[in-house]
Amino acid sequence: MGGSIKFLGIDIGTGGTRALIIDEHGRVVASGTEEHAPFASPQRGWAEQDPHDWWRACGLAVRRALDALGDRGDEIACIGFSGQMHGAVLLDAHDEVVRPAIIWCDQRTEPQVEELSDLFGADRLIHLTCNVPLTNFTLTKLLWVRENEPRNWQRVSHVMLPKDYVRFQLTGERAIDVADASGTLLLDVAKRQWSSEVLSRTGIDQQLLPSLWESPEVCGRVSARGAEATGLRAGTPVVAGAGDQAAGAVGMGIVRPGTVSATIGTSGVVFAATDGPALDPKGRIHTFCHAIPGRWHVMGVTQAAGLSLRWFRDRFGAGPNDGRNDGRDPYERLSAEAAAAPPGSDGVLWAPYLMGERTPHCDPNARAALVGLSATHTRAHVIRAILEGVAFSLRDSFTIFREMNVPVDRIRLGGGGARSPLWRQIQADVYGHAVEVVQAEEGAAYGAAILAGTGAGNWHSVDEACDAVVQTAHKIQPDPKSSAILDEAYRTYRRIYPALRQISDRDSTGAAQPAAVSVS
Ligand code: XUL
Repeated sequence: MGGSIKFLGIDIGTGGTRALIIDEHGRVVASGTEEHAPFASPQRGWAEQDPHDWWRACGLAVRRALDALGDRGDEIACIGFSGQMHGAVLLDAHDEVVRPAIIWCDQRTEPQVEELSDLFGADRLIHLTCNVPLTNFTLTKLLWVRENEPRNWQRVSHVMLPKDYVRFQLTGERAIDVADASGTLLLDVAKRQWSSEVLSRTGIDQQLLPSLWESPEVCGRVSARGAEATGLRAGTPVVAGAGDQAAGAVGMGIVRPGTVSATIGTSGVVFAATDGPALDPKGRIHTFCHAIPGRWHVMGVTQAAGLSLRWFRDRFGAGPNDGRNDGRDPYERLSAEAAAAPPGSDGVLWAPYLMGERTPHCDPNARAALVGLSATHTRAHVIRAILEGVAFSLRDSFTIFREMNVPVDRIRLGGGGARSPLWRQIQADVYGHAVEVVQAEEGAAYGAAILAGTGAGNWHSVDEACDAVVQTAHKIQPDPKSSAILDEAYRTYRRIYPALRQISDRDSTGAAQPAAVSVS
């Protein structure tokens, strides 16, 4: 590999930053990571991070990757970014951070969601942006700051998404790709340009926003200051990159209609590429630009997918290890424990609404539930029910895709849900479809590196790159007997949310609460 060209992908996640270097054949040759400080939650449902911490982590992660490569920063021919979506980074006229960034999972903006629905009517917003207002989307965060922190808002001269702030530090360019911009609710997703109607009716000045690019386009170069902070060569080109979901999809070869991914990280995402902007009139799934020029994607999001299992681990422990200090990962221990319960968990069901829910309910106030317990049930049943409940929630997205005629010919698994053999089998059984795992399951940083290689001309297109580098490693078939049991359980699972709504629609005095976005 000495002397050949390399491409660097940098993913600014929530928990940390990952830098990944690939060669011209798409082989991973080095990587480095650095954790972020945990997000702050100054009030219940709030989630904030300090943008300076991402830039610090980026410098360290890139230096670690370059060290692993043998300190050959000049071999990096191009750089791509991916990152957590939907955040609001606010800078003043001197490019100083005005307040901590309000990030993707923050839930404070329900009043702003209602204001947008009243201002536009849900139908008009879907028409303009292909999406309905949700607390996650950046625009609602801008409106919250304007209404609640007018002095901060007065100082705002630039609005950026998380990875674009880090790019700004590295290059001095204010740029964003259309894929990440789709999650702001300010983009005319069908036309791949800022929506002048949404901007003018909400009073957001377009001057605040970065310039728009397609994901594989070169939009800047590493500055002298950026080079000093990272060890990269000044002048190295940087492509626009993409939000983590679109970049992760590129890394798994989800580029043409028919191949769909089901990724279980903290959140869970079912993602399909489409040739045009496919709309769900009820707004239960997101319709965004893909990281490929002329292509779009749909995705359904489960807010607490991997988080459900992590919550169980943190609150109730990973279980006894039978006195054997076998060094097993806590998730492996949980998975082994769950395997003792049968498919269908003997009737125990988990509704994973720990952080409200996006798909299919669009309800930030939804709450989780464990249903069907009897005295005979064990921890194993509960853990298995959590794995199954998360898969049921992702199946809800497949159900909507079917209603929308989005084709599902192949399903590829990603994230932690692809690493556990039991969770893979549960997913095959719940989806009633074979599932595949790809060889380089490297996440969004890998997709960002592919976009960099495409921008540098190593591949003519993202399609060509994915055809050359993404390979299937395993295929798992559904088990017909388990599938039949889980099909029945899914039907019961679908009845849980309406029942929960009835409970949460009444407060302790018995008075009815305002309704959330109504979807079936
Ligand atoms: C996607 C989403 C999350 C964040 C976190 O819509 O909200 O995947 O991007 O990384």
